Amino acid sequence: MSQPAFLILDDSASERLIIKHVLSDAFPDAAISQANDAESARGMFAAMSLDCILLDYSMPQMDGVAFAEELRRAYPHLPIVLVTGVGDEMLVSHAMRRGVTDYIPKSRINVESMRRIVERAIQSCSLRKIVVAQREELETFAYALAHDFKQPIRQIRTFTELISQEVPNGDSPELQQYLTFLGQAAQRLGSLVDVMSQYTLLNQEPELHQISLAAVMENVTGALNSEIKERGAVLTFTGDVSLHGNETLLGQVLQNLILNGMKYNKSDPPRIDVRATCTIDECTIAIQDNGIGIAEQYLGEIFRPLVRLHTTSEYAGTGLGLTLARKAILAQHGTIECESEVGVGSTFIVRIPLSGGPSRRPDEAATH
Ligand SMILES: Nc1ncnc2c1ncn2[C@@H]1O[C@H](COP(=O)(O)OP(=O)(O)OP(=O)(O)O)[C@@H](O)[C@H]1O
Ligand SMILES: [Mg+2]
Repeated sequence: MSQPAFLILDDSASERLIIKHVLSDAFPDAAISQANDAESARGMFAAMSLDCILLDYSMPQMDGVAFAEELRRAYPHLPIVLVTGVGDEMLVSHAMRRGVTDYIPKSRINVESMRRIVERAIQSCSLRKIVVAQREELETFAYALAHDFKQPIRQIRTFTELISQEVPNGDSPELQQYLTFLGQAAQRLGSLVDVMSQYTLLNQEPELHQISLAAVMENVTGALNSEIKERGAVLTFTGDVSLHGNETLLGQVLQNLILNGMKYNKSDPPRIDVRATCTIDECTIAIQDNGIGIAEQYLGEIFRPLVRLHTTSEYAGTGLGLTLARKAILAQHGTIECESEVGVGSTFIVRIPLSGGPSRRPDEAATH
């Protein structure tokens, strides 16, 4: 930062003077502007590029936090330091959730603390800007990759089938086998790419509405009809509840969990029971199977990308189904966990709030 530009917004001329004095001692090269109300501050933002704003928390004509929120929307990476009076510190965490980067209490303003806090705010905003830009770039790259891979994979599969039809069966059994392997590899690559594009799409905030679980289950049962018949599985559903979620995402999650329940299952018949119950603020959906079960030490692992407890020759799969399911549930402010006993079966428990509130378990939401 060659010559940093700062703005002090405070309705009190004497407070502005004190802050300006300390700020110019902390940053001798800085260009420091002042405004006494939001309107003149807006004008300055339009006219110049600022490196940091120091904003008074309580001004008679204006709510400092509401103004910070407005600035955050317009300037996502602007360092905003809130200057708080006695007692205002209590409200700092609320202010930081609304877009404030850091704060400095008026009682503790001195050259050293001013330099430290302003530099920290500038650094954290520039790091966040880099992270956001890199994430966007990665998402675009992953999306393009998934999209561009689809066509050549389809072509490999089609031509493999055409070649295998052309090669006379009895002439070269090895060749037929190689073609079968080639077709299977292309199919697996196709599934991986499909799953990758789903994963990328899940980075966007989904629209949440009031939805009926029975309607979601009806679609899921329809989509899985042939797999259920093929496996001779029994799927039951009880508990038509209404919850605040996304029909498509919840449908994908249930589909993944039911497919897993049928796939990792040696019972005859495989049974999957889906049961929903609600408390006053949350809906719990239990998806229980009578399958092979999962050993306790793997219960936390299975939601991580590409974790598979079996080889592809035992059970086919990409190892991303549960990662996607977890991401989709977190996007609906919910949680997912698994209880299981080897040889008895597994129960996946999904919890989703009934209204659009935050997850009951912020620790889980934070790790996604
Ligand atoms: N209901 C279940 N019973 C027993 N093991 C399970 C069950 N669900 C998942 N697993 C284990 O967890 C692993 C991860 O499951 P996940 O659904 O993420 O991937 P996958 O089924 O291997 O592949 P896909 O991405 O095609 O779903 C599985 O490979 C399997 O070992
Ligand atoms: Mg799966």
